[in-house]
Amino acid sequence: MTDGEDLVALYKRLEKVVAQDAWEGMADDIKAIRALKREKNAVILAHNYMTPEVYFGVADVTGDSLALAREAAKMQADVIVCAGVHFMAETAKLMNPSRIVLSPDLQAGCSLADSITPQDVRDLRKKYPDRPIITYVNTSAAVKAECDICCTSGNAKKIVESLSVSEVVMVPDEYLAQNVARQTAVKIIPWHGHCEVHEQYAPQEVAAIRRENPAITIIAHPECPPDVVAQADFAGSTVNMSDWVTEHHPRQVMLLTERSMSDNAAVDHPDIDFVRPRLPCPYMKLITLKSIRRSLETMTHAVEIDETIATPARRAVERMVAVK
Ligand code: 13P
Ligand code: SF4
Repeated sequence: MTDGEDLVALYKRLEKVVAQDAWEGMADDIKAIRALKREKNAVILAHNYMTPEVYFGVADVTGDSLALAREAAKMQADVIVCAGVHFMAETAKLMNPSRIVLSPDLQAGCSLADSITPQDVRDLRKKYPDRPIITYVNTSAAVKAECDICCTSGNAKKIVESLSVSEVVMVPDEYLAQNVARQTAVKIIPWHGHCEVHEQYAPQEVAAIRRENPAITIIAHPECPPDVVAQADFAGSTVNMSDWVTEHHPRQVMLLTERSMSDNAAVDHPDIDFVRPRLPCPYMKLITLKSIRRSLETMTHAVEIDETIATPARRAVERMVAVK
């Protein structure tokens, strides 16, 4: 199949979530990005929050933070483009120190990663000297370097329990820590960071959605406040959410998370009615076909992590990946 035929077929799948007038420019960028990938032996790792034209048009690997970290460790390409926020690009670089890892936009940060500094972790270490410190993957490499082990929303409970202690510190997401604490006997000391997207969901909103759609299934990301998660039918990482939808096939569903995730799931499940959440992640939305194309054309922005930070940060990620 030529790129042209493939793009006609692709648009047929995407037409409900991508406007026709926007598609023409997108198709041109998709063709150019595919050619650049071949030319530079590059792969694109894309988070589930990417818009459908990125997710379905140019990504080689898609997934949640855990899947992307695991897949990054297996990459053979010369160049890895991270279609996700900066901490994801740093994680890919930690797992591939010898390869070029590109972040298409350096402004693609994360409010959780911004909520804590390495000095904050050193202060926590002084305050709780004998407690392991677990860092959610949504942190800078410099913060990871100060922590004992990493976790993601997909494996947080497992990581907490893998340490065989009665008390841990978990940074930086207060709500993730509280949501995990409800599922385990281990005491969790949280930090006070929040995701600026998920913290906006409120229990009153969930109640109103249920009133308007009595048969709806509601699935929440564990970065949502605990009183929102308590009202959901299921909570899990972005991959856990899509797996749940595939397995249970609800007639109508709302995913309380970043909004592109629902567009992508709706393409995969055209017979399910996805009630769209209102919230985009402003950082994820900086990663576009245009920024990916520019990144591959100019080979910017190459992620570099000083070895004094990379070595201990990599250890924290590798310890996580080793927990089965
Ligand atoms: P996942 O690991 O569940 O994909 O979450 C990443 C994230 O940033 C959620 O806001
Ligand atoms: Fe960070 Fe929230 Fe955006 Fe995820 S959705 S990248 S946690 S700001």
